Amino acid sequence: MTRRKIGLIGAGSAGTALILALHDKGYPIVGIASRTLASAERCARWVGCERFSTDPGAVVPLADALFIATPDDAIREVCEGIAKQGGFRARQIVAHLSGALTADELEAARACGAKVMALHPMQTFADPQQGAKNMIGASFSLEGDPEAVAFGREVVEAFFGRVFVIPKDRKALYHAALCVASNYLVTVADLAARMLERAGIEKGAALEAMLPLIQGTVNNLARDGLPLALTGPISRGDAATIARHLNAMEELAPEVLDFYRTLGKETVRLAREKGGLDPEGEKAIRRMLKKAK
Ligand SMILES: NC(=O)c1ccc[n+]([C@@H]2O[C@H](COP(=O)([O-])OP(=O)(O)OC[C@H]3O[C@@H](n4cnc5c(N)ncnc54)[C@H](OP(=O)(O)O)[C@@H]3O)[C@@H](O)[C@H]2O)c1
Repeated sequence: MTRRKIGLIGAGSAGTALILALHDKGYPIVGIASRTLASAERCARWVGCERFSTDPGAVVPLADALFIATPDDAIREVCEGIAKQGGFRARQIVAHLSGALTADELEAARACGAKVMALHPMQTFADPQQGAKNMIGASFSLEGDPEAVAFGREVVEAFFGRVFVIPKDRKALYHAALCVASNYLVTVADLAARMLERAGIEKGAALEAMLPLIQGTVNNLARDGLPLALTGPISRGDAATIARHLNAMEELAPEVLDFYRTLGKETVRLAREKGGLDPEGEKAIRRMLKKAK
């Protein structure tokens, strides 16, 4: 199969990870542009690409498929800037990687005859090299012009990934859900670490202490799914333990009480769905979680 020639604008975490993964799957990488030459050069060096620049105009004409992987707020501006200089050509594929924005963000390219899409990897990219590995087998959402989406499907297939098509008017909700799953998981870990610190585990050791538990929970989720992966006192209807938690937090960590109560109520709902929750225990727990501070 002839692979489309790939160009990138915005050689940050996600863009570079994508380019590394595409390169690994045999796609020719023909040009990289970024705000700074250092980022463009680093990405180009990793994939042996000779054309890198701070000027998107030097890269866009070389590519059959162009990925704009700048921060969300810059996508439209970058796209309009290229269009103004007559950079896009008819049937060229132009994509961005944002989960919250629709393909319409690339309207200026579409007006030049390009086919546009949003290709969003449901994955987190901090380090580009690790990110490229995490790209394989990830889920992706696609949305946009049919020709571009067909190319998106080809890419996801090359990555052994799974495609979800999200309607335009649901993308923000879709993205909010993924932020809950990924970013809020980190926030929850941070809160738990601070609670452990108050309980006497020294700062720095708290995360390390929790990681096997978090990993075990993720394993349960992967094996048993929702709601069966739920364990713990709410799942058992153990009201006396919840009362002890609340008393301890009132005394030692009052700032986390709201958070504990809010997620606790969701956990009661999940425990109910799982089944086996003692009705008396459930009633008592609901009452305690409702109580104002
Ligand atoms: N990171 C993730 O986990 C993740 C996951 C899924 C989707 N995404 C999406 O991927 C996109 C990029 O996010 P990211 O996390 O990779 O951001 P990032 O690490 O900040 O990278 C963005 C890159 O864009 C470059 N840039 C900024 N303004 C530019 C401009 N005007 N022209 C050209 N290049 C410009 C920056 O270049 P310099 O380095 O040269 O300054 C930077 O390297 C976003 O749409 C985001 O929603 C990210």
